[in-house]
This record gives sequence, C-alpha cells and structure tokens, in this order.
Amino acid sequence: MRTEIAIEIGTSFTKIYKSKCDVVLCEPTVIAIKNDNYKKPYAVGSDALKLVGKTADGIKIIKPVNAVEILDFNALTALISAFVNKILKPFESVKRILLSVQCGSDGEVIRHFENALQSARLYNICTVETPVLSVLGVGNVLTQTSANGIIDFGGGQTTICVLNLNGVISGVSVDFGGNDLNKSIIKHLEEEVNITITDTQAEALKKSVASLMQDDDTKTVVSGKETTSGKARTMLISASMIVKPVMEFVNKIAEIAVMVLNKLPDESIIELNHNGIILTGGGSNLYGLQDYMFNKLGYKIIMASEPDLSSIIGAGKVLANKDLLLKLKLKQ
Ligand SMILES: Nc1ncnc2c1ncn2[C@@H]1O[C@H](COP(=O)(O)OP(=O)(O)OP(=O)(O)O)[C@@H](O)[C@H]1O
Ligand SMILES: [Mg+2]
Repeated sequence: MRTEIAIEIGTSFTKIYKSKCDVVLCEPTVIAIKNDNYKKPYAVGSDALKLVGKTADGIKIIKPVNAVEILDFNALTALISAFVNKILKPFESVKRILLSVQCGSDGEVIRHFENALQSARLYNICTVETPVLSVLGVGNVLTQTSANGIIDFGGGQTTICVLNLNGVISGVSVDFGGNDLNKSIIKHLEEEVNITITDTQAEALKKSVASLMQDDDTKTVVSGKETTSGKARTMLISASMIVKPVMEFVNKIAEIAVMVLNKLPDESIIELNHNGIILTGGGSNLYGLQDYMFNKLGYKIIMASEPDLSSIIGAGKVLANKDLLLKLKLKQ
C-alpha cells in the first residue's frame, strides 16, 4: 500500500497530512535522545516536550529546527522517521511527499530539508511555499490577479506577504516569532517584578493570559525564582503586567507589515481590500491581535479558523489536485 503525505516542519510544531485521512499529526518538533542512540529515539514530539528540564544524565532534549535553519540534522532525520512511522499503517509506504517551505527560502535551505527527508527514506519530494498553502487552507481561491494577504506568526519566524497564483507580490520572512516573545516576557518580569521563570512557564503564561488589551485583568499564578536572591517565589501575574513586551513585539510585526503593504501596486491594494489579510500560525491566537492589526494596517483582518493548521490543511488540498500541484511546486 502506498500513500501521499504532506509535511511542515515548523520551529515549534511538525504537522503531517495524509491523503484521504486529513491532518494526522501535529506534535512539537522536539526529540529526546539517550546515549546518542539516534536510531532509537528515547521520546519524540509531545512525549519529548514533557521531559524538558526533567531528564537524567545521558538524555538530550533537542529542538532541531529554528526558522529555516536545521540545528541538528541527525536529530531532525530521526524525528521525521519517527513521526512518519507513527502515521503509516503496517506495510504502508510513502509514494510522494509534499514539503511546505517558508516563502523566499533559497535553494540551499530547501536542499537541506529535502536531504533530511531523504535520510528518513522519503523520496519523490515536491516543495510548495507555506503562505500559498495557508491561503488555500483557509478556503480562499488563488487566481492570477487576486491579492491574498497572509500574516503567519510562528514559533521561530513570522512571514508577512501578499500573493496570488503567480507568486509573491510583496513579502518578507523574519526570524523572530513566539519563542522570542517568550524571551521578552521573561526579561520583562525579571526587570519589573523580580521573578525569573522558565521558558515552559513563559509559554504557558503567554497562552493563558497574554493580551493586547491594556485593561485586561485576566490573571494566573506563576511559580519561579526571585531574580535577585534565587529563592522560590510564586506570584499572581495579570495580562496588563506583560502587555508591554507583547505590544512591543506585535508592533514590530505591524511595522514590517506596513513596509510590505506599502510596496503593493494600486491594483493589488484594491484586491487586498476586498479579500483582507489572513492571520495564521499559532502566534495569531494572541488575544486581541485581530483588532490590533486592523487598527494598525487598516485592512480587513481575518482570523484563520484553525490558525496552527492552515498551511497543512492547504497542503492536503494541493495533494488532492495534481494540476494545482504542478502550478505551485517550486522548480529546482
Ligand atoms: N494562545 C496563544 N497565544 C499566543 N501564542 C500562541 C498561542 N498558541 C500558540 N502560540 C504560539 O504559536 C507558536 C507556534 O505556532 P506554529 O505552530 O504556527 O509555529 P511553527 O510553524 O512551528 O513555527 P515556524 O513557522 O516559526 O517555524 C508558538 O510560539 C506558540 O507559543
Ligand atoms: Mg510555521
């Protein structure tokens, strides 16, 4: 039995779509390796993420990808193999794989990811740019003359672009995302309220209370260490206590978006006004982002219904439509 799959290897999450089955995997891009045994990983995905900060000697927790950079090729290959094995039935193999790659990735970057797939025994690879897939994933139609806006706020990178069936009209990918926002939140709390928290706690804090509303008083309890003395400390943190780093971060994205939009020809501006800009990527779950971006950019902002999965859902649509795949796949 042979099947077709699509894969997106994100900094934070790897997503896999399987033909005739839908999205079958969305797990952290994390692997635990014991005693350098890459052939038999100790844990992968969600199971590996649970081990962060709790491992014994001999176990390494590796996050092998950051934006478009492969930080640990062997770990990535082992992770891809493990994920693909998880979603295949016994005696099933992969006859074609669609790889979602970040917009503007150069040939060398694409080759590195393709090499990782091949090392995981995955061949017959075609690549399509992620924002194109996101547009299709949210149900929009790509034409030769349309202008579709995407803000993809990921873990390690943020992509802002306007595109149509012919490609990107104006766009940029920057290598900062939700992981960098976690770092800014940690630094801000250290400086302002003398508490040091881990990245895992910052991630949870961001997801539960971070907001772009100045007067938001959603609160949560966070345990960490007193920055100056190192003593254990528990504190009630409200959304307004971290609104400054959150806003600074989002403002950076908005500034880049304004630059991208300013480069659009007049015809595209009219089209984009009609279609609006789609907010996608896990980071777009940030509370208040839709209204905030509307105020900054002036265009209609549409929240993807499953922002973390838009592009892999789109990849599934492309796999099912061979004419579209031919049009969209990158030529190398
Ligand atoms: N509710 C939320 N509020 C804020 N951020 C969130 C929320 N939910 C998820 N995120 C962030 O979304 C990011 C992950 O999104 P996504 O899965 O799109 O990234 P990725 O595709 O793995 O990364 P990249 O595209 O940068 O390589 C993480 O930084 C995570 O903290
Ligand atoms: Mg992504």
